[in-house]
Amino acid sequence: MALNVEQFADDAMAEIRRQVDGQAIIGLSGGVDSAVCAFLAHKAIGDRLTPVYVDSGLMRENESERIVELFSKFRLVKVDAQDRFLNALKGVTDPEEKRKVVGETFIRVFEDEAKRIGADYLIQGTIYPDRIESEGGIKSHHNVGGLPDNIDFKGIVEPLRDLYKDEVREVARGLGMPEEICERMPYPGPGLSVRILGEVTKEKLDVVQRANTIVEEELLPFGPWQAFAAVLGKATGVKGDVRAYGWVIAVRAVSSRDAMTADAMELPWDALKRISQRITGEVPEVSRVVYDLTPKPPGTIEFE
Ligand code: XMP
Repeated sequence: MALNVEQFADDAMAEIRRQVDGQAIIGLSGGVDSAVCAFLAHKAIGDRLTPVYVDSGLMRENESERIVELFSKFRLVKVDAQDRFLNALKGVTDPEEKRKVVGETFIRVFEDEAKRIGADYLIQGTIYPDRIESEGGIKSHHNVGGLPDNIDFKGIVEPLRDLYKDEVREVARGLGMPEEICERMPYPGPGLSVRILGEVTKEKLDVVQRANTIVEEELLPFGPWQAFAAVLGKATGVKGDVRAYGWVIAVRAVSSRDAMTADAMELPWDALKRISQRITGEVPEVSRVVYDLTPKPPGTIEFE
């Protein structure tokens, strides 16, 4: 059944007003889910809402600046928490553990901000597939299953919890939000930490960010559901005539309707070759580039 956007927005705003009897914060990630949520919450409770953007250091290249610019009309609070996240992730290699550490660190940062602002409520843009995958034990999506048990908020409000991604985009358009936000590729809450196999380090973050920019530049014109770079580990290569032991970058580009299943995109060989040449050329620390052909299932979209 098609979504009645107006009705949905009215109901969501009524729910937010009913649940939030004081000040609230909302975590903005730059994605469409949290943006729609912030928009609805702002309409519902006005200045009682403070949008918070936490720069975890796990974002794509230049993304923080872009988010601050996009939300310049909101009274956005930006928190620089890169060191806090890197420290918390030190030595963590297990994927589920990583997700929990990132989820917990986000919550602790939000709690600190909420205290400073005097907010009792946290509004989140959790959508239906996030809940299903967390409840089904597939992955702990950081804004659901990755949350710690003891959370210092009077309430957590999730107005989009029954929507699929394409419905969220429909609501975004219905609300007249900028096309750049409506069309943004999904981006996972734990950010680049799930696109770095093994321990998250500054070096790997830096490499994956630069490779990812190239992947997006080359592949966004093909209209993927998601396209990104991940760093797998190290392998031997040869650059000039010397042995180069460098990072292996995996390129992932998938088509999907709702992220519950996905297919690897059949990209032109030329495009793939160009990406490989550009990444190994422009990111000297990379010795090898591979393209992930795995559909979901049996793979997942993200690597961890
Ligand atoms: P997977 O990797 O499970 O991802 O096939 C399905 C979709 O969800 C995104 N994803 C997340 N989104 N918090 C989120 O908000 C998370 O922890 C998370 N993990 C994965 C992923 O990018 C894909 O669109």
